[in-house]
Amino acid sequence: CAAAALVVRRQMRCAGRWARVAEILKELEERCGTPEGRLRQVADAMAVEMHAGLASEGGSKLKMLISYVDNLPTGDEEGVFYALDLGGTNFRVLRVQLGGKEAGVVNQEFAEASIPPNLMVGTSDELFDYIAAELAKFISQEGDNFHLPPGRQRELGFTFSFPVMQLSIASGTLIRWTKGFSIDDTVGQDVVVELTRAMERQGVDMRVSALVNDTIGTLAGGRYTNKDVVIAVILGTGTNAAYVERAQAIPKLHGPPPKSGEMVINMEWGNFRSSHLPLTEYDHALDAESLNPGEQIFEKITSGMYLGEVVRRVLCKMADEAALFGDTVPPKLKTPFILRTPEMSAMHHDTSPDLRVVGDKLKDILEISNTSLKTRKVVVELCNIVATRGARLAAAGVFGILKKMGRDTSREGETQKTVIAMDGGLYEHYTAYRTCLENTLNELLGEEISKSVSVELSNDGSGIGAALLAASHSHYLEATEC
Ligand code: GLC
Repeated sequence: CAAAALVVRRQMRCAGRWARVAEILKELEERCGTPEGRLRQVADAMAVEMHAGLASEGGSKLKMLISYVDNLPTGDEEGVFYALDLGGTNFRVLRVQLGGKEAGVVNQEFAEASIPPNLMVGTSDELFDYIAAELAKFISQEGDNFHLPPGRQRELGFTFSFPVMQLSIASGTLIRWTKGFSIDDTVGQDVVVELTRAMERQGVDMRVSALVNDTIGTLAGGRYTNKDVVIAVILGTGTNAAYVERAQAIPKLHGPPPKSGEMVINMEWGNFRSSHLPLTEYDHALDAESLNPGEQIFEKITSGMYLGEVVRRVLCKMADEAALFGDTVPPKLKTPFILRTPEMSAMHHDTSPDLRVVGDKLKDILEISNTSLKTRKVVVELCNIVATRGARLAAAGVFGILKKMGRDTSREGETQKTVIAMDGGLYEHYTAYRTCLENTLNELLGEEISKSVSVELSNDGSGIGAALLAASHSHYLEATEC
C-alpha cells in the first residue's frame, strides 16, 4: 500500500513537472512569436532607422557607416592582392590572382587560424602582432606561381568586421568591439595604423589599400560575379548588412559627391533595436550579462554567437523549475556559451526516430545521460522556436532594406532584378534557418515581387571582395593614373 502511494506521488510529481515544461515552452513560443504583421512593423522600423542614421551621425541606433566604396568591382581588376579577414571565430589570410575581364580569379590560396580566446580580451598589440605573425607565415610559404613585379609592395584588403568610422577607403577608427571581443586600447584607434605597426614589428612588407567591413567585402565579391547584387548580408557569428545607396539620399555625406552618384553603406544592423522586436526574459538576461549590455540587440536574437546560448538559458530554467534533467540542474548546463549554435543546429535537424543526435549532444556537451524521447522532443522544439524567430527577423530586416531601396514593389514594365549576397556560417550550414529566412522573405514580398528578388550564397565572397577592393584602390593604380 505504501509502495503504491509512493508510485502515485511520483506520477503526480512527474505530471506536474511536464506541465511546467509545457508551460515554459508555450510562454516562450508566445513571446518569440513573429506573425507577419509584426515582421512588417519590424521592417518599417528598420527603414525608418535607416533614414535617421543617414541623416546625421548618431541620428540612430543604426550607424549607417559610409564605406568610401563608391565603385564596386567591374571585372577589370588585375594583379596579385592579399586579403586578411578578421571578425569572427576564425581569421583568414588570402592571396588572390586577378586576371582581368577575360580570366577573372586565376588563382587563390588561403590559410585559416582561430583567434585564441585570450587575445580577444587582451591588448591591441597582442592581437595585431598575432595576426601579423600569421600573415608573415603565410607569405613565407609563398609558391612560385605568385610573383609580384619587381619593386612592388604587396597590397592588402583588410576585412575588419566590427563597427569602424571610416576616414577614407584605407583608414578608420574602431567605434567599439562586438561578438565577444573586448580590447579597450583599440577603441578609438585607426585599425590600419594598428595593423601596419604590427606588420612592421613582424617584418611584413605590405600596405593596406582598402579597409572594409565583411558586408562590404561580400557586396564587392558578389557584384564581381553578378551585376544585380545590391545588398549583402552576413549571418554568422554576428550579423550585419550593407547596400548601395544613392549619394543624394545621404544627407550626412559631406564633400564632393562621388562620381558614380552612389555610396555603399555599412548599416551595422546588429545594433538595431525596436519595441517591435519580440524579446524574452532570456534575451534580457543574456544581454545584461554580456560584454556589451544594451548593444547589438538584433544580433543577440538572430546570429550564430547567441542562438545556442538562448536555448541553453531556456533549458536551464526548465532544469531548475521543472526538473527536466532530474532533481538537480546539471552543472555543465550552467556554463554560459557551452551550447554552440552548430550543435543546436545538429539537434534541430535530427530526423532519427529516437532523436539519437539530440541524446548524444546532450551527453557529450552537457554531460546529461539517459534522456527520454519526450525530453529530446522538447529540446528540438526549443531549437525550432529560437531559430525560427531569428530567421524570420533577419528576413524582416532584408525586407526593410528592400523597402528603403524601393525594391519591394514593381513599377510598371520594369524587370529590375535584385540579388542579395549572403555569407556566414549560420546561413550556410543551418538549413532550417536558411529555409525559414527565404520562405519568410517571399511571404513578405508576395508572389509577384519575389520572382525578381533572389538570395545567393556568396561563399567567402568577403575575402575575394576585399582583394578586389584593394586592387581597385591600389596605390600603383593611382600613381599611373596621375
Ligand atoms: C558584428 C559587427 C559587424 C559585422 C557583423 C558580421 O555585427 O559589428 O561589423 O559585419 O558582426 O560579422
